[in-house]
Amino acid sequence: MLEKEQMPEDHCCPWVRPKEEISPGKAIVSEHKAGSKTTFVSKHPDFKKVEATRPDFNHNAPIDVTKSPDPSWRYGQGVNDGGASLQKKHVEIDPFAEGRPMMSNYKLLVSGIVPRPIGFISTLSADGKTANLAPFSYFQVVDHDPPMFIVGFSSRPGPSKDTYRNLKETGECVINIVSENMLPAVNATSIDAPYGVSEWAVAGLHQAPSATVAPSRVQESVFSIEAKLTDMKEFENHAKPGMSIAALGIVEATRFWVREDAIDEDRSHVDLKVLRPVAQLGGISYARITETFELPRSNWDAAVKEESWLGELPGAKDASA
Ligand SMILES: Cc1cc2nc3c(=O)[nH]c(=O)nc-3n(C[C@H](O)[C@H](O)[C@H](O)COP(=O)(O)O)c2cc1C
Repeated sequence: MLEKEQMPEDHCCPWVRPKEEISPGKAIVSEHKAGSKTTFVSKHPDFKKVEATRPDFNHNAPIDVTKSPDPSWRYGQGVNDGGASLQKKHVEIDPFAEGRPMMSNYKLLVSGIVPRPIGFISTLSADGKTANLAPFSYFQVVDHDPPMFIVGFSSRPGPSKDTYRNLKETGECVINIVSENMLPAVNATSIDAPYGVSEWAVAGLHQAPSATVAPSRVQESVFSIEAKLTDMKEFENHAKPGMSIAALGIVEATRFWVREDAIDEDRSHVDLKVLRPVAQLGGISYARITETFELPRSNWDAAVKEESWLGELPGAKDASA
């Protein structure tokens, strides 16, 4: 029997229970490639009802630019909250404490490490026959020279994620950045379609040819990155019987594609107003950007000129000697 806590909520499906425990009408049954039947139940059966009470999504919401949180902040001031945050106590949590369910770490991390960008990853099966598409928010750009990206594949009951398998076997992918209007289709691709079923059809998204890798890029995406695998690190020491292996893929970009109306003349800036990125939060929540602010970076010499006491700090004189 699969345990509820084995299944991270937004990485796969919230509740996994034996079929007989599920009331009819609420279950989405899917068959894994291995032939074992796993039954998923939505944790939010009345979601449509709840959503109906909410205001409509504002497709034309402007992106306002405001002042920074504390325009009068000066070096050494820390947080200007009158010491309020210093009065608060912290709770110490050992991620591996006895009896602490893995699910608690999952919920803690996806609610506390936010917002997470979503890498919408296109891959091809090794025989080139099946095109796969799935979202990953354990995803990040980690350098620009070379342009490197990481993606984390979570462990789950049964076979590995198709994206992991394809990336490992073919060494190629396209990372598509997710805009607000793409999210329902993107979310639909995260269903546990059997290996061999293409999520492109499930989502109704369109394939556009790539230049340096075999998998297609998503035509609807404002920004796509063709990439090749440089490393796959499998977390063997945390492998559990019956669960797929958790892994980290490291990929290097080989080509960028940016929609014409989103790129500037020297091809170095993506327009936020066109990109309209969406990020994942905890649970089933997502975030959009409707407000930004600017904060220029400084350097040591300029800072010391502004605040001479910085030059008197221990170590400051040794560095300039
Ligand atoms: C917004 C979003 C973000 C996700 N992020 C991850 C992730 O970072 N890692 C992961 O293993 N699964 C993640 N998932 C779940 C996978 O997309 C899901 O398991 C999918 O079925 C995997 O597809 P595949 O087997 O075709 O690779 C995410 C799902 C959604 C909807």
